[in-house]
Amino acid sequence: MTPERLIIRAHEPADIAVAEAFHWAEFAEGLVPPADIGQSGGHEDHREYLLIAEIDSRIVGHAMLRDRPMRPWTSGDSMVVVEPYRRSGVARALLFQAIASCHRPLMRIFVRPSNRSANRLYDDIGFRKVGTRTGHYPDGEDATIMMTRTFWR
Ligand SMILES: CC(C)(COP(=O)(O)OP(=O)(O)OC[C@H]1O[C@@H](n2cnc3c(N)ncnc32)[C@H](O)[C@@H]1OP(=O)(O)O)[C@@H](O)C(=O)NCCC(=O)NCCS
Repeated sequence: MTPERLIIRAHEPADIAVAEAFHWAEFAEGLVPPADIGQSGGHEDHREYLLIAEIDSRIVGHAMLRDRPMRPWTSGDSMVVVEPYRRSGVARALLFQAIASCHRPLMRIFVRPSNRSANRLYDDIGFRKVGTRTGHYPDGEDATIMMTRTFWR
């Protein structure tokens, strides 16, 4: 894949079903979709959005991001890149875009210690372990909590 074929963009409503399908296939559980906060009269400091990775008009991955009121971090709640587009820089591009457009000074993600590829990815991008949430996942595995500074100003 040449980098110019990869586009990272904000989601449109029709993209949510695609991201949900990617999430189900990977995690065997549902994605909590981005809430339509504008419609629900939500706090102005509350945003939920998907970043969509597209190659030749085909959606190949996503990252789900949530800014909740009074939290100094943006939460990265789901990231998936589908085969055969893995290992070609798509997740790295999604995370760089997420960090560059972040509205908070920090970004926080949870990751399974057993997820070697994701741990290496986050470590490579500059996320660092800040804690553990015991038994976080449905099968009882702990979550490693990682954070990075963003380019927030
Ligand atoms: C984790 C995931 C998002 C990575 O997506 P990707 O587009 O393949 O990642 P990239 O190509 O951008 O990789 C960037 C870096 O991450 C690390 N990495 C990614 N996949 C890896 C793998 N299979 N083994 C080891 N390191 C890996 C490497 O450091 C890589 O840099 P390099 O290729 O220069 O060595 C993808 O494998 C995926 O969707 N996995 C299933 C869902 C998941 O686990 N999501 C994360 C939940 S916390």
